[in-house]
Amino acid sequence: MEPSIPLRPLGRSGVRVPALGVGTNRWGRGRGVDQLGPVFSAALDAGANLFDTAEVYLGSEKTIGACLRRDPRPALVVTKFAPYPTRLSARSFDKALEGSLARLGMSAVDLYLIHFPFSLVGIPSLMDRLAEAVQAGKARAVGVSNFSARQMLVAAERLERHGVPLAAAEVQFSVFHRGPERNGVLAACRELDVALIAYRPLAGGRTRRDGTALDRTLAGIARARQKTVAQVALTWLLGKDERVVAIPGATSVEHLRENVGAAGWTLGDEELAALERSSA
Ligand SMILES: NC(=O)c1ccc[n+]([C@@H]2O[C@H](COP(=O)([O-])OP(=O)(O)OC[C@H]3O[C@@H](n4cnc5c(N)ncnc54)[C@H](OP(=O)(O)O)[C@@H]3O)[C@@H](O)[C@H]2O)c1
Repeated sequence: MEPSIPLRPLGRSGVRVPALGVGTNRWGRGRGVDQLGPVFSAALDAGANLFDTAEVYLGSEKTIGACLRRDPRPALVVTKFAPYPTRLSARSFDKALEGSLARLGMSAVDLYLIHFPFSLVGIPSLMDRLAEAVQAGKARAVGVSNFSARQMLVAAERLERHGVPLAAAEVQFSVFHRGPERNGVLAACRELDVALIAYRPLAGGRTRRDGTALDRTLAGIARARQKTVAQVALTWLLGKDERVVAIPGATSVEHLRENVGAAGWTLGDEELAALERSSA
């Protein structure tokens, strides 16, 4: 039997998600439910029933909507609002969220994020819109993506005025890209009690090279533990902090099954020290 994937809280929102989900930014672009329905169902079978999408992922929301109709078991969906310069009004925010909900075929998303912080309306105003989405029952939890630690603080304080917690910060984070440990974002997640959703956890599929010291260390641990490099990279990430949730992108059942195999085991102190040295 597959090891079960632990649930982790999205901050203080009351929503809990599996520590390993599925990134779906390539679930549109001509790929549909015929190809991805089996990947979606394999994720549900494994308990990795968290799907990260966005209105800008060219058809991904529509594919997930079709997958949800094909396999109606419980699934959790994260989607995102892109604060383009033309989107200045509350009406444009509502329209975008309604569009996402219609494509997904859902009445509420589990987590709604502001995709990036650059916006003419400013972070406080975007947080007012997110709080309204929670109050209207259209989002169970809300958060931000690609925000700095300082921008997270502004966001959290504004949401608190509405009695809504900042639930998650989605940023690039992996053993290949350790920015959040250095730029204050991981520390801000700890201080503010916010989940860190790690995107590009496999550095875009960088798992079969052996050029750098890091690649060689990962490959050595994988061999010794009878795991794959992707599994070692994901296990490292999940072990970093109990707030981390990883969303490796996968468009095949093979990759999906491999990635969920990162749950249920941990790295030892010596392995962690070797990874620390080679990824510094
Ligand atoms: N918030 C943001 O601004 C933002 C930005 C970027 C990404 N994201 C989210 O994060 C998710 C993950 O990022 P990502 O997809 O760019 O990068 P990633 O998860 O690091 O890598 C995905 C790539 O790795 C391959 N792969 C998956 N599992 C593998 C395995 N076990 N062994 C070898 N290769 C494997 C995939 O191939 P196959 O497709 O063939 O399975 C795909 O080419 C995205 O899907 C998206 O949901 C968010």
